[in-house]
Amino acid sequence: MKRHRISKAGDGFTEDPANSFTPDAPYYFDPDVYRAEMRSIFQRNWTYFCHASQLPHEGDYLTGEIAGQSVYVVRGHDGGIGGFFNVCQHRAHQLLSGSGNVRNVIRCPYHSWTYELDGSLRGAPKCEAVLNFRREDVRLKPVGVDIIGGFVFVNLDPQAAPLSEAVPHFGEKLLAMCPEAEQLRYVTRQDFAIKANWKVVVENFLENYHSFYSGPAHRQLSDVIDQDSYRWSIEGKVIEFLGRGGSAENLPYEMKGQRQFTGRNDGFQIVFLWPNMAFLILPGASMLLVFLMVPNGPEATAEPLLYFGLGDELDAGTASAVEWFNTILGPEDVEIVESVQRGLHSLGYQRGRLMADAACQEAWSEHFLHHFNRINIEALESGG
Ligand code: FES
Ligand SMILES: [Fe+2]
Repeated sequence: MKRHRISKAGDGFTEDPANSFTPDAPYYFDPDVYRAEMRSIFQRNWTYFCHASQLPHEGDYLTGEIAGQSVYVVRGHDGGIGGFFNVCQHRAHQLLSGSGNVRNVIRCPYHSWTYELDGSLRGAPKCEAVLNFRREDVRLKPVGVDIIGGFVFVNLDPQAAPLSEAVPHFGEKLLAMCPEAEQLRYVTRQDFAIKANWKVVVENFLENYHSFYSGPAHRQLSDVIDQDSYRWSIEGKVIEFLGRGGSAENLPYEMKGQRQFTGRNDGFQIVFLWPNMAFLILPGASMLLVFLMVPNGPEATAEPLLYFGLGDELDAGTASAVEWFNTILGPEDVEIVESVQRGLHSLGYQRGRLMADAACQEAWSEHFLHHFNRINIEALESGG
C-alpha cells in the first residue's frame, strides 16, 4: 500500500496493523476527503437500497439517495427490479418521490414526458412538431441493481460487475446466517442522526474493544455474546463476527420462544459489507437487523436501523431485543462517536495507536479498523 498519497490520512497509518497508528484526525472531517469518498467509494460501489418484498407488485417503486444522487428502483412488467437515476432527460426535473406505484408509466411532473418502466421514453407532448426529435434516442440512465437474499443493492455505476460476482462470499455468509432472507418482511425502523463522520461510526461498529469498558449498555452487550466462543473472519470486503449467545439470565432483554430462522445456532451474528452496511442477528431474537451508516456530510451520518422479520410483527421477546437496541445500546454508541468527532478537532490530538494484538487474532483487537481504512484508502488512491 502506498501511504503518502492520501495526505490527510497521514503516515502513521502503515501496512502492518499490529504496528500502525490510526489515520490522522483531518481524514475524519476534511471536506476534500469527504468529496473524494463520495466519488471514489460511494458512487462506484454497491450499497444497500431495500428488500424486494417492499416492491411486491408491478410498477411499485421506491426512491432513495446514494452519495447525493437521487435514484429509484421499480418492479417491471417482467417481475424484475430495475433502477434508474431519478431525473428527467428533458430539463432535469425529478421524476418520482417517496414510494408508491407508477401505474404503468412514469410521468414527469414538469412537462409530462412519460417513460416506460424499462426507462425508455414513451411520449413527449408536441414532439411531432420538433425537428429531428427521435423518441428512441431518449432513455433514463440506469444504475446497477443486484439482489442477494432478497436484499436489493444499487451501484451508481451501471457497468460495475454484479455484487454477487464481485463479492460472492457476501451472499454465502448472509444466507448461512439467515437462510430465510428472501422471505423476510420489513417490520420497523429506528433512525439516528449522528454528528460524526461515517468512518468514525463504522469504526465504532467494527471494534469490540470498547464493549468491555464504555457505558453500562456495552457491558450488557458483552453479556449478550459468549466471549469464549466469539470468532471472526476478514475476507476482502466482508467481515464476519459470530458468537454463541450469553446465558439467558444475563440477557438485557427477554427471550420468549425459539428463534424462527433455520441458520446457524450461533446466537450473535454480524455480516459486515464494506463500505457501510451490516446485517445482524441477536441471540434469541427472530429478526434480522440491517444496520446502515450513511454519510450525510463530512461530519454527519444517518444511521437507519431496519428490522426485518418473517411476519408483519415481531414476537414479544424479539420486540424487547429491538427496544433494547434502539433505546439503550444505540444511544450509548451515538454519544461515544459524537464525543470522538469533537475530540478529532482538538488541538491536543493528531492520531492514536491502534490497539491490535501482535498476531491480529483477538476479537477485541482493532485490526478490523485497519482493514476497513486500508480498503477506504485504496479506493481513494485508485481515484475516480
Ligand atoms: S423536465 Fe421532465 S418533462 Fe420537462
Ligand atoms: Fe458500541
